[in-house]
Amino acid sequence: MSKIRKAVFPAAGLGTRFLPATKVVPKEMLPIVDMPQIQLAVQEALDAGIEEIILITGRGKVSMVDHFDVAYELEDHLRKRGQEELLSIVEEISKKTRVVSIRQKHPLGLGHAVLCAKSAVGDEPFAVILSDDIIKSDRPAIGQMAEIYDAEGGAVISVMQVPPDQISKYGAAIPAEGSSPVPRLTPLSGMVEKPPASEAPSNLAIIGRYVFPPEIFGCLENVAPDARGEIQLTDGIRELLKSKAVYGYEFEGKRYDAGDKLGFLQATVEFALARNDIGPLFREFLRSLEV
Ligand code: UTP
Repeated sequence: MSKIRKAVFPAAGLGTRFLPATKVVPKEMLPIVDMPQIQLAVQEALDAGIEEIILITGRGKVSMVDHFDVAYELEDHLRKRGQEELLSIVEEISKKTRVVSIRQKHPLGLGHAVLCAKSAVGDEPFAVILSDDIIKSDRPAIGQMAEIYDAEGGAVISVMQVPPDQISKYGAAIPAEGSSPVPRLTPLSGMVEKPPASEAPSNLAIIGRYVFPPEIFGCLENVAPDARGEIQLTDGIRELLKSKAVYGYEFEGKRYDAGDKLGFLQATVEFALARNDIGPLFREFLRSLEV
């Protein structure tokens, strides 16, 4: 059993890259085929043995919380019509998830969103999952990271190698001197946001999965807001580095940036192709396209 029992899902952002779809629909509810992105992310946490889901929500995000609640009328309707398969899909979602939701009143940044979970997390290590980073993997990415945390302590941040001309789109990890004997693990000495390729400290891009010790909260409380008035998670991690080891972990799996239109489409196509029900017909359809 891992020490990681709780996962925080920051989901209070405005999703401006997906306007107008996200004017009233939370970006986390946009489906990959028929699965809301937040459900894919929550499933990853459950598959890793995480028991408590902490959703950080904002204005207009109620549907996301409702999604994990019992839908009595819908369930009753499906039961009466004998639609047992759909019924169990719908029932499962609320049955297996223990959800706490916390409102971030103003979108004051990812660091602030994580800080909102302080009292719900308490004095124990926890995971942070950004649901728009979808990771397809045989072993849940956050579970891989929880194992590393259990063995190494400190903080574990997911990283992925990207081509040099892509690193300027990400936070880049700064490797510390020396290496780790653990495969895929790099001790870090810091990170920089969106560096130009010529100044990038590595080609390790930071992705939306983290395992933190509870000390991260004190660090975030000490961080000054940036020029836009936001508290950045990376500043909190830099603060944490003063007292704890921080590791970059190259997870096994394929990541899609579903917060971006192209990444969203790529995830949709690959997830659809992998499905037993619609996969074969969808493949045939794609082959028939003149592209
Ligand atoms: P993004 O930078 O992707 O922002 O936030 P966004 O609002 O979701 O989307 P765009 O860029 O406007 O299209 C990264 C993650 O941090 C959460 C978001 O919900 C997302 O999961 N976040 C960001 C918060 O919860 N609160 C904030 O104040 C900012």
